[in-house]
Amino acid sequence: MNNTVYESEEFRRMLDETSVMPEPPVMDGSLRQAWFINRCRRIVARKEEELKRALTFCVVTFGCQMNERDSEKLRGILRLSGFSQSDTEEADFVLYNTCTVRENANVRLYGRLGSLSSARKKNPAMKIALCGCMMQEKDEIERIRQKYRYINLVFGTHNLYRFSELLCACLMSDGQIIDVMDKNDSIVENLPSDRTYSFKSGVNIMFGCNNFCTYCIVPYVRGREKSREMKDILDETRQLARDGVVEVMFLGQNVNSYGKGLSGDVSFSKLLEEAEKIDGIRRIRFMTSHPKDLSDDLIEVMKNSGKICPHLHLPVQSGSSRLLKLMNRHYTKESYLDLVSRLREAIPDLSLSTDIIVGFPGETEEDFQETLDIVRRVEYDSAFTFLYSKRTGTPAASMEGQVSDETAHERFDRLLAEVQSIGRRRSSRFEGTVQSVLAEEVNRQDRSLLTGRTPHNLVVHFPGDKSMIGSIVDVRLDKAHGFYYTGTERE
Ligand code: SAH
Ligand code: SF4
Ligand code: F3S
Repeated sequence: MNNTVYESEEFRRMLDETSVMPEPPVMDGSLRQAWFINRCRRIVARKEEELKRALTFCVVTFGCQMNERDSEKLRGILRLSGFSQSDTEEADFVLYNTCTVRENANVRLYGRLGSLSSARKKNPAMKIALCGCMMQEKDEIERIRQKYRYINLVFGTHNLYRFSELLCACLMSDGQIIDVMDKNDSIVENLPSDRTYSFKSGVNIMFGCNNFCTYCIVPYVRGREKSREMKDILDETRQLARDGVVEVMFLGQNVNSYGKGLSGDVSFSKLLEEAEKIDGIRRIRFMTSHPKDLSDDLIEVMKNSGKICPHLHLPVQSGSSRLLKLMNRHYTKESYLDLVSRLREAIPDLSLSTDIIVGFPGETEEDFQETLDIVRRVEYDSAFTFLYSKRTGTPAASMEGQVSDETAHERFDRLLAEVQSIGRRRSSRFEGTVQSVLAEEVNRQDRSLLTGRTPHNLVVHFPGDKSMIGSIVDVRLDKAHGFYYTGTERE
């Protein structure tokens, strides 16, 4: 891990410009946030003087890549405000970026808050903040208001870009600040970020979701789908390439519908074609693709590309067309299989991964057999399997025929055994071949090894040293071990 604060030249100018302004700019946006970063800097410097030590922060991220990317922005602001990063939660400012996609995400957060109490006792000046998807739920906010009075700051997904302003207010107050908005249609560009890796980065291409799959809470907590302007995405990608990034991952809940609502002739495949032209970017990945919106154009672009990785995450959720309809997914088992065969025809060695939900309301043994059948037919390289989790306010929560825990667990175990044995077989298909591997980190168990990924997203451990991190090297995949390989660099 490298931790590089990255701010655009434009934002650097904004920091300079606002450092001499007595009052914050009235217009909401990055200039106003720059003003507050300058103010936070002064507050942090003063506190450090008083305490005669550096102030530290810790950001803990739950959930998906979207949250990971948001946390990079939050860390960027904390660093620019003068805080130093702490490896543990014994820090002066602890921020949890939450997820609520399944019930256990919420349970985990409260558990984590509980275990913070000893660190809080040691450092009574500790400030604790919560943000992210779970904070968009009214019941959770009520719970925090009543039972977690010691939480200093709460904000949601729609006002994350105002973090420096909220941080400033929090540093100056001893009370509890709760600032959550129901919606916000603006996209604020140019915020700084503290990247976890120097050589790869996520890039948001869109926010929110309009699909309302009946089990899913994301559209309620992330709001309506909004695409970023293509120019902004490409400018950011160019800047990343200049900073040494070789792999980008375009992020959105449904990247295939990118561009809806923007003017001009824009689409996801056009965006990829433009990104492909950027010098320095050597690998392009994206997630998540919704099967209903995956276009022939995209297949064509992937087929002809030298940079788009031959790996697609294509969540199926279920193999039963009856359940897919109840889930509001807008495809059938047959149309999904047809899509997979068109993809495989165009890109023969494509790796496919997926998400599957077990125990959706009304799921019968026959429905479940359809899921097992699609898994066998598609032969996924990997699959994330989830037990259905009831999310209050979603249509599925009040559907009839909720499946008992016992049945759901029993099906889950059968599915897991199936996807694992297929995955193991599929992922060993590259044994003996030479693949280009992006060296990502020193292996945690054996420091003489590096860990990297192939274009197909397979993990490889191979001898090498720290200086190679961030470079793409040819590695012979000597042995497949289930879901990873051991290999050696080809001279
Ligand atoms: N936008 C992405 C997925 C985002 S959520 C897509 O549509 O593919 C990631 C995964 O969590 C989903 O694919 C789904 O499999 C799972 N998930 C979402 N809501 C769930 C719920 N209520 N219970 C169990 N799994 C759920
Ligand atoms: Fe949830 Fe469906 Fe949107 Fe994915 S596409 S985030 S599963 S509503
Ligand atoms: Fe979780 Fe929010 Fe992502 S609910 S999965 S962090 S969009």
